[in-house]
Amino acid sequence: MSLHVKPSTTTDALAAAGSALLSDWAREAIAARGRAVIALAGGGTPRLLYPVWAARAGLDWTRVILAFGDERAVPPTHADSNYGMVQEALLAHLDAAPRVLRMAGEHPRLEQAAADYARDLRGVLDADGRLDAALLGLGADGHTASLFPGSAALDEAKRWCVAAPGPDGTSRRLTLTFPLLKRARHIAFLVAGADKAAVLREVLHGPLDTRHLPAQTLLRDAALDVHLLLDAAAAAGLD
Ligand code: 6PG
Repeated sequence: MSLHVKPSTTTDALAAAGSALLSDWAREAIAARGRAVIALAGGGTPRLLYPVWAARAGLDWTRVILAFGDERAVPPTHADSNYGMVQEALLAHLDAAPRVLRMAGEHPRLEQAAADYARDLRGVLDADGRLDAALLGLGADGHTASLFPGSAALDEAKRWCVAAPGPDGTSRRLTLTFPLLKRARHIAFLVAGADKAAVLREVLHGPLDTRHLPAQTLLRDAALDVHLLLDAAAAAGLD
């Protein structure tokens, strides 16, 4: 496998490219295993993709199971909820309902919610425990999902989902972990904007330092099938 860098000139083209890629991977999984399990991302850049995917997917959504890469410790109706964002940007526009595995960010004990989510995932993944695809964003600090620099979640070697500190170290999140993300059949990073140019350069061309730049764990692992979709502004710092 290797890193596939796919520049787009605009964010509209970026969203269209990401939508097409997720649909291709979903169709591949449905043909091979009867259904596709795809983990979605929160954040403003991944959000660009969802309305385009809703309009152009060309999928039998009843064969798709949507999971989440992470969630904030809020109820699904909260403005910060990744589920709430996906509900508004994607699910509300679909003519047929995919099964959705929602992370219970509202749970009073996030550790229990994380264990429950890992159990839910085990119930839909094959014995090989592999997501068919994971859509991820990249934070300006080098995080992905809710795997933030210096987080104890970076060291998780077994559990598929954990409760983890948020970006400010005080708020909390639920996040898939690298043991599960690294097993995904396909990974797509959606990165846009001039504010990501510097971190993307560091992640791709800087010294390997996964504790400070967690996204390197995936973007610098040549054994994985990682597709980096980015716009011209985010690509400005790349060789
Ligand atoms: C979240 C996401 C997070 C996001 C990145 C990129 O819950 O916010 O999972 O990992 O994808 O921070 O977000 P932007 O594209 O908005 O910068």
